[in-house]
Amino acid sequence: MSYMILFKTKKNTEIIKKIFIDLLQYASYHFSLEYDLFQIYKYEDEARHIDEHKFFIKKIETMMIRDYLTGKDNLKEALVFLVDWFSNHILKTDMDYCNYFRFKEVVEDVNTYISVKKFIKE
Ligand SMILES: [Fe+2]
Repeated sequence: MSYMILFKTKKNTEIIKKIFIDLLQYASYHFSLEYDLFQIYKYEDEARHIDEHKFFIKKIETMMIRDYLTGKDNLKEALVFLVDWFSNHILKTDMDYCNYFRFKEVVEDVNTYISVKKFIKE
């Protein structure tokens, strides 16, 4: 179900639940791809990177459980967290390993690996 349909027909609680579930699915796929690449190319900053992933998953799970237990939602907290995640992890931390792969000159191998993994998933 698209977010636009949810926005028109449902309460915030249901919209946020859908967003959290989609985020965890995104994290499951994207993070596992990154773990694979870190192992293959022996990324030296892997531990710190994975700690940030664990923090993301824990935060989303915590917000989901809290919302479930209280029957309330906190859209503002969720949006603030996501904006912070996108601007700090994706635009900065993820760029660190991109630069590392460029430095190691394995970008073409990485792109091939990602293409094959996407093909297998579909
Ligand atoms: Fe990452």
